[in-house]
Amino acid sequence: MASIEVFPDLGRLIHAAAEHFVQIASEAIVKNGRFAVALSGGSTPRPLYDLLACEAFIKCIDWSCVHLFWGDERCVPPEDSRSNYRMVREALLDAVPIPSGNIHRIRGEDDPELAAAAYEQGLRSFFGSSAAKGLPGAGFDLVLLGMGENGHTASLFPGSAAITERVRWVMAQYVEVVSMWRITLTPVVINAGKNIVFLVSGAGKAGRLREVLEGPVQPEVLPAQVIKPSGGRLLWLVDEAAARCLKKIRSESLPS
Ligand code: 6PG
Repeated sequence: MASIEVFPDLGRLIHAAAEHFVQIASEAIVKNGRFAVALSGGSTPRPLYDLLACEAFIKCIDWSCVHLFWGDERCVPPEDSRSNYRMVREALLDAVPIPSGNIHRIRGEDDPELAAAAYEQGLRSFFGSSAAKGLPGAGFDLVLLGMGENGHTASLFPGSAAITERVRWVMAQYVEVVSMWRITLTPVVINAGKNIVFLVSGAGKAGRLREVLEGPVQPEVLPAQVIKPSGGRLLWLVDEAAARCLKKIRSESLPS
């Protein structure tokens, strides 16, 4: 089941995302005693992580039960300005009381193939193998994703072999368009998630968002289209600037 919520601006999109984050986390912790989330990199989610670290939200979550993973990572050291881990550490980790053992970063400083294999091993031991079968509810409680202007998501870029991967949970690839090695979750484990939430903002993404949501299905060209939860929920949180080209989906400003 997929749905879309359109907001007047990024600020209200981010506030709604924080409320969804807290609700999903609280439900997971009550039900299972833990909340496992794969965080998105890039710039759009940064204000979400900043907001979750604010007084109003930080007290809403039992951080001792939260397990943070990343949907993808750039193959750079953790202190590198391009590191998704560093972005989250600065915005969130330095402010919340999460046990260090609950922070499951991708080791961008290591050999990409070895780091991908190690991250996959960590995921498999955390989730068990049922997530690999895409069993509903067998994966992350929440997967946060962004979408690039070329329709990529996580580090699933157009033409990437990871888009059609059916076995591995994590892959390392050299990505020409960004001239760097990237490590990414594959659709196998993303689509096993209970809640998958895209955050998309800005006019620069409007045309691509329409192609992804309303155009022909061609995931090798538009990797965001490969994201289809096997049993969970898919939610697009977008601002009006990004939604302006949508034809079938009426872009309505929801109350903030
Ligand atoms: C990354 C992200 C990537 C990102 C999109 C959108 O490592 O950069 O995982 O998939 O979500 O590129 O990025 P923005 O939010 O900065 O537009």
